[in-house]
Parts: sequence; structure tokens; C-alpha cells
Amino acid sequence: MNDLDSLLAQAASEFDAAPTAAELENAKARFLGKSGRVTELLKGLGALSPEEKKSRGADINRLKTAIEQALQARREALADAELQAQLKAQALDVTLPGRQRGQGSLHPVSRTIERIEAIFGSMGFDVAEGPEIETDWMSFTALNNPENHPARSMQDTFYVDVKDAEGRWLNLRPHTSPMQVRYARMHAATHAGQDPMPEIRVIAPGRTYRVDSDATHSPMFHQCEGLWIGEHISFKDLKVVFTDFLRRFFEDDGIETRFRPSYFPFTEPSAEIDMMFATGPLKGRWLELAGSGQVHPNVVRNYGLDPERYIGFAFGMGPDRLTMLRYGVSDLRLFFENDLRFLSQFR
Ligand code: PHE
Repeated sequence: MNDLDSLLAQAASEFDAAPTAAELENAKARFLGKSGRVTELLKGLGALSPEEKKSRGADINRLKTAIEQALQARREALADAELQAQLKAQALDVTLPGRQRGQGSLHPVSRTIERIEAIFGSMGFDVAEGPEIETDWMSFTALNNPENHPARSMQDTFYVDVKDAEGRWLNLRPHTSPMQVRYARMHAATHAGQDPMPEIRVIAPGRTYRVDSDATHSPMFHQCEGLWIGEHISFKDLKVVFTDFLRRFFEDDGIETRFRPSYFPFTEPSAEIDMMFATGPLKGRWLELAGSGQVHPNVVRNYGLDPERYIGFAFGMGPDRLTMLRYGVSDLRLFFENDLRFLSQFR
């Protein structure tokens, strides 16, 4: 081994022994620095003959390149080791379970209301919403309720501690029927002067309130009003529309309906609509579903329309009950307790 080879071996071993980048740079200076060993060798060339200088110079330059390569290799090895150490320190444990994002969903009653809207919408019905705090006139008087009708009494209706312009207590609407009046009056005003007026076809779903609470009644519940008014709208149309609605809602074409005589101040004649499933656990039993009837002439007048000319029907049904029937839920209160164990079943 000549002196140059042994110098290369020494440099390589000092580089490899340097544990950090800083110490590696010190080792580099010892060989390639201003007064390093290689630099000293180059200085020594001056004393040689031109012939010797040439061959010795070339040898020293090869040595220099070899030392630089050894240096570079060690630099890379150190950088690599540092990266590995860093990666190890910052290691991700991919087996740790992630933070779950709770998935929300529509309330089952909201789903029912959307379904009602879609089916009636396909039959040309508009969807309207209105206030839950109503005037006495909208909830009762306009709907032909006599002054002493029990619905007005404190036992059934929640009143708000504020009086309306007529000096009567505002109420939490006990039904969606005021929406018949609000919508029809708006429609009549919008189409004033049009002859004949375009038909009124609307449903109005929303929250309603009554002083009542048990497994099938909640002080807050939902109703969906329906109204169809024109020049020749009859009970026959109501029966067709409502039966078709139920068959589509429950996806059961064998559903039958029947109209049972009843009484409401705002309809004459009035009927309860009952339905019977053709299949399933409730098959063969008549179930009460909605109140309905031909709108009373006094109410048509309160719509701002001529009862001699315009006629039609209204109905009011309970989306809560439709939801109970559709999903087989037996206690209405479950819908409003907001227990996720119950609600998440409808996701
Ligand atoms: N408003 C009535 C109720 O709450 C239902 C109904 C609506 C009846 C429309 C006839 C016509 O019981």
C-alpha cells in the first residue's frame, strides 16, 4: 500500500467514524482543508521535477476525488440515518381507530312530510307553510266555529299571553286549518279579476298544539292540511286523490278507504277517512286517518270567494300517525323524546 492509498483508507475510516454531520465536516477539514493532508501533498509537488510532478499530481488528484467520494457517501449515510430516526420518532399508528363523525339523518316524521309533499306535488298540489302562533279569527272564527265551540276552550287550546288586534288571545294553532284561509285569501287576491280563478290545490304541513298527552297524543304534533277548490270539485275527487295518496304512501295498491260521517264546523258534509291495508300485520282493520269534508259556504266566503260558484274539499291528516303506521311504532312520544337509540334506526 503506497502512502496515497493508506491516506485514502485513513480518510475513509475517519469519515465512517464521524457520528454527526458536524464531526464529519471536521474530519473533511483534516484531509481537504487549507492545511489538510491532501493540500500539504499538493504543496510538496513544487520540489519535484516536471516529469515526477505530472505523474504525482495526477495521483494526488485521483486521491482527492476518491476522498471526496468517501465524504459524500458518508454525508448521505448520515442524512439517511437522521431521516430514519425522525420518521421513527414521528411514527403514525395507523391501527388507532379514527375519530368517528356522527352521521345525521332526517327525523322520521320529516321523512313522512317530504313523502307527502312529493306525492301530492305530483298531483299538482302546492306546498304552503304558515305561522304556528295564530289569531283567534284564523284558528276559529274564519273556520265557522261558533263563539261557544269547545275547541276554543282552554282545555284544548294553548293560548299565548298576548292579544291580537281584536283584543283576543293569540293561540298556538290547534290544527293546520287556518292555512286553508291564509292560502285561499292569498290565492284569491293574487288572481283577482281572473275568470274563472285558477283552482286552489295546496297542502300545508306543520306543527300543531293541543292540551293533550298520552301514548297516541302529544301536546305538539303534526298535521297536514289539504285543500282543493274550483268550480266542480266534489267528494268523488277527494276520494280518488286521497285513496291514491295512501296507496302510494304505503306502497300497497290494495289499500281501501271509507268515508264515515262526522262533524266539523268548517265542512258540510264532513267525514272521517278510514283506511284498511290489504297486507301486513294491520290487514283487515279499519284505521282512522283524517278528517275531511266539503268546505262550508261560510268558510268559502271567508276565503274571499263566492260560495255559489266555488266549491271543493279540505282534509286534515296526521303525519305522526302515518309515520307510526309505516314503521310500526306504537308510542307517539318516542318521536319527540330525541333518544338517538330510537332515531338512529331511521338512518
Ligand atoms: N282540522 C281538523 C282537525 O284538526 C281536521 C279537518 C281538516 C277536518 C280539514 C276537515 C277538513 O281535526
